[in-house]
Amino acid sequence: MKNIVILISGGGSNMAAVVRTAEREHWAKRYGAKVALVISNKADAKGLDFARAQGIATEVLDHKSYPSREAFDAALGDLIARYDTPEQPALVVLAGFMRILTPAFVERFAGRLTNIHPSLLPAFTGLHTHQRAIDAGVQFAGATVHLVTAELDHGPILEQAVVPVLPDDTADTLAARVLTQEHLIYPRALARLLEGH
Ligand code: GAR
Repeated sequence: MKNIVILISGGGSNMAAVVRTAEREHWAKRYGAKVALVISNKADAKGLDFARAQGIATEVLDHKSYPSREAFDAALGDLIARYDTPEQPALVVLAGFMRILTPAFVERFAGRLTNIHPSLLPAFTGLHTHQRAIDAGVQFAGATVHLVTAELDHGPILEQAVVPVLPDDTADTLAARVLTQEHLIYPRALARLLEGH
């Protein structure tokens, strides 16, 4: 069985979308893959409740308990590595995980580490993407699923979705429109990875 490990920091709606799609589309039977673990760096992340209710193992790794970014990432990596099986390395899915990862961590999980970012990359890397899109006057916004490389919000693009920016949009209304699309493209991108495309 290939384990999928999902990292969250908050609401976890993308994680929930992946879990629901994996169930609905029978990823266990189809790809021999299952969401085996959800990790949060925040104990109060709402998404943990959903994961627990689904019977998925959860772990909290509070970055504030570690002396450095390197130490946190090493512990995080060791936790994830417990879910590698002799046959299959785990797939590591960042889903609203609001921590910048060290190059050593990225290297350790290279090729099997994915992220979703709420913009049409390479535009608007970093934070506050929706407000920045509105301020820039772009007519289209969206979301990107990509493989993670050492440079923040870069790496090969796996899926994108486009939404219009409407004249009276606020960052919140635009974020909600984009998030609906995120829930479609993240599971789709992961399914394609698991299929080996
Ligand atoms: C999503 O919009 C995701 O794209 C974004 O955080 C939100 C998490 O929502 N990620 C980033 O901004 C990463 N830099 P969720 O917890 O409900 O999935």
